[in-house]
Amino acid sequence: MAVDLLLGLQWGDEGKGKIVDVLTKNYDIIARFQGGPNAGHTLEFDGIKHVLHTIPSGIFHDNAVNLVGNGVVIDPVIFKKELDNLAKFNRDFTKNLLISRKAHLILPTHRLLDAASEASKGKAKIGSTLKGIGPTYMDKTGRNGIRVGDLELSNWQEKYRNLANKHEAMIDFYDVDLQYNLAELEADFFEAIEVLKSLQFIDSEEYLHQAQKNNKTVLAEGAQGSLLDIDFGTYPFVTSSNTTAAGACTGLGVAPGAINEVFGIFKAYTTRVGSGPFPTELFDSYGETMGRVGNEFGATTGRPRRCGWLDLVALKYAVQVNGVTQLMMMKGDVLSGFDKLKVCTAYNYKGEKITHLPYNIEAENVTPIYTEMKGWKEDLTKMNNASQLPKALINYIEFLEKELEGPIKIVSVGPDRTQTIHR
Ligand code: GDP
Ligand code: IMO
Ligand code: MG
Repeated sequence: MAVDLLLGLQWGDEGKGKIVDVLTKNYDIIARFQGGPNAGHTLEFDGIKHVLHTIPSGIFHDNAVNLVGNGVVIDPVIFKKELDNLAKFNRDFTKNLLISRKAHLILPTHRLLDAASEASKGKAKIGSTLKGIGPTYMDKTGRNGIRVGDLELSNWQEKYRNLANKHEAMIDFYDVDLQYNLAELEADFFEAIEVLKSLQFIDSEEYLHQAQKNNKTVLAEGAQGSLLDIDFGTYPFVTSSNTTAAGACTGLGVAPGAINEVFGIFKAYTTRVGSGPFPTELFDSYGETMGRVGNEFGATTGRPRRCGWLDLVALKYAVQVNGVTQLMMMKGDVLSGFDKLKVCTAYNYKGEKITHLPYNIEAENVTPIYTEMKGWKEDLTKMNNASQLPKALINYIEFLEKELEGPIKIVSVGPDRTQTIHR
């Protein structure tokens, strides 16, 4: 069985891009299976920092093919920008880049609908990245969407016009003040479509099927995090795809039995960008330090990320939903110098102590119950071997392994590819 998954266990931005880049040398194919340009996956190597949104994070390695799977939604305009940003490397990345014909397209009007929907919600807004993700998945499940494979048909522009006209009527329905020039947006869109059409479109489920028959290895790269999953996340403050393990099956056409390792990745603390409940959120100097030292700003939107202590109730839930087999802990270096660390091990839920994630985790229902642990002072960022890790950090790791019932196999101690410790 040749398909491994790498998934975020929190509210996204766990460091998925970095670890996919580190692991790519072990795989023949790296495949994104859901989400779209709402994702921002950061890679650092050789003094370069690079953010990817739609293109899989294996793109910098020649040994692997990078596949954008059927479960992904693609904005041609952002895709073109991503390719333009890669031009500075003076390499032909497109030969190793494949696109599923069944992936859906984000239209300019999907982005406008996202903006109109959020504006109409006022204070109750999701805090969407406004990339048109929700409206595009709505058209997919509503059976109205336009797919990459449609671009090879002669009548796709007619289909486009009909859908865009319908979207304009829907935008009017929201009755919000939204200024836009659709003709300008469409000019960019159609220009970007031509670039997209120069790439290799494939029947990706067949491609992956053959790859597995030929003993090729696949790493499926998740976007967002388990708590943003449309079914299992903190609904409605979620994204519009299945970010959890099952999403890799539907988003690539891979059978459940083909899945081998499930790598679950989490930060040594918690962050969230956008609205929605966050029981362990901090509003004090500890949270401020996490944000500052961890440089916690959204890779896609630049918004500051909310920060808080590690939430084991939520993390255990994510481990269970995904069937995680190996854990990876990121950004331990950010906690160096904290005099104490707190880990949420239970919730006080409406007066009762519980250890599972309930339906409702708003602040009025849930107060976190913490276990306090000793911090460490040492700078971890130059360490490259597990034997160098300070005692207090090892205690923290072993405590988490016991609670989460799984091994922490990678400890990341900085953003660079090389700042990765295997245990
Ligand atoms: P992703 O969306 O899961 O790929 O994560 P993002 O790229 O959005 O956010 C993770 C941020 O943390 C990026 O700026 C990374 O460069 C950075 N990062 C990743 N691992 C580490 C780490 O171990 N330590 C520190 N200090 N930064 C890290
Ligand atoms: P990566 O892959 C963090 C959040 C948004 C918002 C909610 C819905 O980089 O971890 P959407 O644009 O999907 O309608 O937004 O989900 N969100 C993310 N938060 N990391 C991401 O991706 C995210 N993608 C979406 O902030 O709260
Ligand atoms: Mg990110």
